[in-house]
Amino acid sequence: MAQSSTLVPGLAGIPCAKSAIGFIDGSVGKLQYRGYPIEVLAEECAFEEVVFLLQRGELPSATELEEFRAEMIREREVSFRALDVFERLPERTHPMTALTIGVSTLGGYHEGDHVEDLELRRGIALRLVAKVPTLVAAWHRIRQGKRPVSPRADLGHAENFLYMLEGERPDPMAAHVAEVALVLHAEHSMNASTFAARVTGSTLADPYAVVSSAIGALSGRLHGGANERVLAMLRTIPDRSPEGVRRWAEDRLARRDKIMGFGHRVYKVKDPRANILQGLASGLFAKLGRTPIYDLAVELEGQMEKLVGHKGIYPNVDFYSGIVYEKLGIPVDLFTPVFAVSRVSGWLAHLLEQLEDNRIFRPSQVWVGESDRAFVALADR
Ligand SMILES: CC(C)(COP(=O)(O)OP(=O)(O)OC[C@H]1O[C@@H](n2cnc3c(N)ncnc32)[C@H](O)[C@@H]1OP(=O)(O)O)[C@@H](O)C(=O)NCCC(=O)NCCS
Repeated sequence: MAQSSTLVPGLAGIPCAKSAIGFIDGSVGKLQYRGYPIEVLAEECAFEEVVFLLQRGELPSATELEEFRAEMIREREVSFRALDVFERLPERTHPMTALTIGVSTLGGYHEGDHVEDLELRRGIALRLVAKVPTLVAAWHRIRQGKRPVSPRADLGHAENFLYMLEGERPDPMAAHVAEVALVLHAEHSMNASTFAARVTGSTLADPYAVVSSAIGALSGRLHGGANERVLAMLRTIPDRSPEGVRRWAEDRLARRDKIMGFGHRVYKVKDPRANILQGLASGLFAKLGRTPIYDLAVELEGQMEKLVGHKGIYPNVDFYSGIVYEKLGIPVDLFTPVFAVSRVSGWLAHLLEQLEDNRIFRPSQVWVGESDRAFVALADR
């Protein structure tokens, strides 16, 4: 086969698969899952319904959803032996590292050939979405010297996750906001972690290895993690008056420093997920009390629009998500694991799609090394 010699760094803009899962039109801020606008799904659907949609291709009927939900609830438990692995880790282990270990360990408990058996494959996809929150919450408790909290079958996916973190049922508004945040982060087309999942899946590796690869890709600070930095950055703004915020932004832009939570490779208008999160944040603050950092964020958004809106630099999903998670009482180093709790559903939808018509990924390279060199014996070097 003829090889292209044109290198596209980061494969930017190069299609690597056909997909019918998530669609983005960044010029108008459109995001759809399986053809349904994200705004409608965030308003109308429970997370479990969205998982079904992503992984099976259609919205479930009431009976299908009931069965799917019941199966997910059954799968939430993680055996004590599997969780024992966490007891051996140093307390400082990052929750993303612990999650990779937890997911890989689960692979040892479940056998079967997912490649030959579609039902088994779908079952594993559901199981992993069900168990990832249990793993994240268990490590969070074990690292603090506490016992993991068992999942509760009478709570929805997001509410149960918050319950397992703290051992207390969350405020209903907090549970609702967490649920919508999970819906918003479930899928985002061919980003780095989804690509990693598809590459690993294309080798016919088992789905636990697929999810471990994707978690590794998500853990890097260019992918997950920007929301942590938004909070840290906002706290460094010394003067929170409109003039002070403008001066701070102008100064950073003049130094060509990136302002965290702004800009996106695909969106050239405000990320639709940021709009939805912002709406949720207002309701959350009305119920649980305002957070001064939110007012500062809104001020910064207004100033940035005047300064760089014409360049297509607007808030992305991370701009408001950290502020929302902090209000939900989620520790900062769990922000990226919360992303994984949601995105695992999208990664596995992509695995299912990849295996419908699989070909192993094997890109080429642009050779920049030497060739046909004369070998020099060790004694002569
Ligand atoms: C997301 C991001 C990596 C997209 O990068 P990209 O598509 O490669 O865009 P570029 O880095 O090429 O930026 C294009 C222009 O916009 C500017 N720009 C982009 N994001 C910016 C930001 N957050 N703050 C200030 N300027 C920004 C760049 O300086 C560049 O300006 P120039 O044309 O004058 O050189 C980038 O916007 C960024 O680093 N944002 C901050 C981190 C963040 O919030 N990440 C979460 C993403 S969901």
